[in-house]
Amino acid sequence: MSQQDTAAGSMRNLADDDLTAAVAASFAGATSERGREIMQSLVKHLHAFVKEVRLTEAEWFQGIDFLTRTGHITDDKRQEFILLSDVLGVSMLVVGLNSRLPAGATESGEPVEVVGAGTTEATVFGPFFVEGAPRYENGADIANGAPGEPCYMEGRITGLDGAPIAGARIEVWQADDQGFYDVQYADLAGPRGRGHLFSDAEGRYRFWSVKPEAYPIPHDGPVGELLAAAQRSPMRPAHVHFMITAPGYRTVITHVFAAGDQYLDSDAVFGVKSSLIADFARHEPGVAPDGKVLDAPFYTASYDFTLAPA
Ligand code: BEZ
Ligand code: FE
Repeated sequence: MSQQDTAAGSMRNLADDDLTAAVAASFAGATSERGREIMQSLVKHLHAFVKEVRLTEAEWFQGIDFLTRTGHITDDKRQEFILLSDVLGVSMLVVGLNSRLPAGATESGEPVEVVGAGTTEATVFGPFFVEGAPRYENGADIANGAPGEPCYMEGRITGLDGAPIAGARIEVWQADDQGFYDVQYADLAGPRGRGHLFSDAEGRYRFWSVKPEAYPIPHDGPVGELLAAAQRSPMRPAHVHFMITAPGYRTVITHVFAAGDQYLDSDAVFGVKSSLIADFARHEPGVAPDGKVLDAPFYTASYDFTLAPA
């Protein structure tokens, strides 16, 4: 090192490891302590990744181009970055880390965390939730014209002690039998296959909709290209989305998956948990559990949700 370089300080002529340390150090003065921790760790892991794969300049530009196109296709209706996070398993990692509940303390007094034993497991939020979906009475048909075979869903919302939670807000959204959510149709005037209702005094909920079908995640953009290049399927197993909120309890964002679906073990976004699989039983035309008489085959599914205390 020449005299001049030494005098200029430690930010010049940095070798790989020194460069990583210098960039990490440049975040030392971050106004948020957590922001500093996140950025310094990100720099460390990002540099390690670049070194490990010995990224070429052409590959680096390809990556920049991919992210640029991911940004360009994203708007208020389409969130390609969430999709990217989903197919990389980052969404499920974040869900998993944040679903842990305090489970008392070890003998040494250290608090430990476990995935909330006994409570309903969470899974990916996905990009198709819509704020302000219509309110329905218990027992109503939320399909609102969505194409598909009629399906009656019911169950209970309870606490860990089994006590019913009355008045829990249950948001439901799902795809139709074409594998599309209402928001994916350009020409739909109103919501279909989505809405919210409240559990009754016994913690029960029930509604009609259509039987969910397996569908591909949007794959006509950069994330689809990534999946195709890796020979990965964009398919998700059939499911109904739920978000349940109740005062004094942790909100749970989850799905109920249809048992027997061929994609349960190859979900494009890694969201399946065994505990979230329910039977969607087929019935010949006749009387449904709520007394309704159907002249076509229909399905019934039952799923109970257990909420953790807030
Ligand atoms: C969904 O289930 O709606 C979904 C989740 C992740 C990516 C795309 C769709
Ligand atoms: Fe979905």
